[in-house]
Amino acid sequence: MTVNWNQGLELGIKKIDQQHRAFFEERDKFVTACTQLLKKERDSEINREKIAEVFYFLTDYFKTHFSDEEQLLQEKEYSYYEEHKQRHQKFIKEVQQIKYEFLQTDEINIELVHQLKDKITNWFVNHIAKEDKKIANHL
Ligand SMILES: [Fe+2]
Ligand SMILES: [Fe+2]
Repeated sequence: MTVNWNQGLELGIKKIDQQHRAFFEERDKFVTACTQLLKKERDSEINREKIAEVFYFLTDYFKTHFSDEEQLLQEKEYSYYEEHKQRHQKFIKEVQQIKYEFLQTDEINIELVHQLKDKITNWFVNHIAKEDKKIANHL
């Protein structure tokens, strides 16, 4: 099951909330491309390109979002800054690894696509709900 944006994920920090929402919008484009790929509704090259685009967006997105969030944590002298930053870094490495594997192969690996769709979303939703929420409570 795909988790969607919901009010429970809202922190009440405008900039961060907007960035969190943007992830879900992009994720939905990714899911659509995957679905078309699975149904072979369109030429698979088109979808493969779309998926590659989403990967590039995601790596860029996470870097920007995490760095903005970390800047805020520093400004607010958040006690668990280092721990939070490490979680971000570990996740970026995982996303980059998945992207690398995906772009290495000529065959579209549906398993990988599915895994990514759920893995990335689940990690991010959990991170917002547990870790980012702590920031909101701290402010
Ligand atoms: Fe966040
Ligand atoms: Fe975070």
